[in-house]
Amino acid sequence: METSQDAGVETTVAAGAGVPQERKIPLRTPNFNFDSLPDRWFADNLVATSIVNALHLLFPDGERFFIRSVNHYKGSVGDDAELVKAIRDFAGQEGRHGYEHERVFAKMREQGYPVDAFLKVFKGFAFDFIEKRSPHALRLATTAGVEHFTATLGRVALDTDLLTNMDPAMADLLRWHALEEIEHQDVAFDVLQRVNPSLALRGAGLAFAGLMVFPFWLGGSVYLIGTKARSIDDLRSRTGKNPYKMIPWRKLGKAVVDYLKPGFTPGEAGDDIRIAKTRAWYMKRQEAARTAKAA
Ligand SMILES: [Fe+2]
Ligand SMILES: [Fe+2]
Repeated sequence: METSQDAGVETTVAAGAGVPQERKIPLRTPNFNFDSLPDRWFADNLVATSIVNALHLLFPDGERFFIRSVNHYKGSVGDDAELVKAIRDFAGQEGRHGYEHERVFAKMREQGYPVDAFLKVFKGFAFDFIEKRSPHALRLATTAGVEHFTATLGRVALDTDLLTNMDPAMADLLRWHALEEIEHQDVAFDVLQRVNPSLALRGAGLAFAGLMVFPFWLGGSVYLIGTKARSIDDLRSRTGKNPYKMIPWRKLGKAVVDYLKPGFTPGEAGDDIRIAKTRAWYMKRQEAARTAKAA
C-alpha cells in the first residue's frame, strides 16, 4: 500500500496505482459560494486572475458543446452499456461544471468585468457559426482533444502550487473541476475510437480544439486585463509570487505529442492517487460545510 498527504488529508491507495482501472463518474453538487470573492483572487494579481477568469468564460458554453457532441453518438455505442452510462455521467458532470462556473460570472459582472460582451462574440463565432458548419465527427474529435487538454490542466492544478495562491472558494472550484476532468477523461476519446479511430481525425480534432480554445483564451485574457487595468502597477504581482513560473510548460507540450501517438490511451501514472486524494478532500469539505450549516 502507498500513502500520500494532501492538505491534511491522508489517503491510502493500492500499490502500483496508475491509470484508473474502473470507470466511476459520480455526479456531485458542491454549490460553491463566491459572495466574498475578491476582484484579484489569484496571487493578488490582475494578469493571473484575468487569465483564469477568461478560462471560466469558455467553460459553460464549451461544456454544453461537449455534451451535444458526445450525446450525438449515444445511439452508435448502444451495445456497450458501460459506455452509454459513462456518456450520461459525463454529461452530468460537465453540465454541473457549467452551472458552477456561471455562478462566478455573476460575481465578475459585479466586479466590472465585461462578461456578456465577451460571451456574445465567443458564442456567436464558436457555436452559432463554426459548430453549425462542422461535421459531427469533427465536433466529437474536437471534444476528445479538449478533454485531453482539460485532464492535463487538471493534473497541473492538482500537482503544483497554483491553487494555494488562490482565493479558497476559487481553489475549491478548480480542485473539484480538476478531479472530475480526470475522472471522465476517457469518455469522449472512447466514443471517438468507437465511431472513427482514424489518427488523422484525432489530430484534426486536437488542432481544431487548439484553434477554438487558445485564441479566445488569449483574447479574453487581454480583453479583461485591458478593461480593468488602471496603471502599469496593475500588471505586477503584489505578493512577489510569479504564478507563470509554476506552470510546467514542458509537460503541456508533451501532452500534445503523446495524444498524437497511435497507441495513446487517456490516463497517466498517478491518476488513481490524484483521484483518491481529491475525493477524500471533497468528502471532508462537504462534511465541514454540512456541519457549519447545522451549527
Ligand atoms: Fe468540465
Ligand atoms: Fe471534461
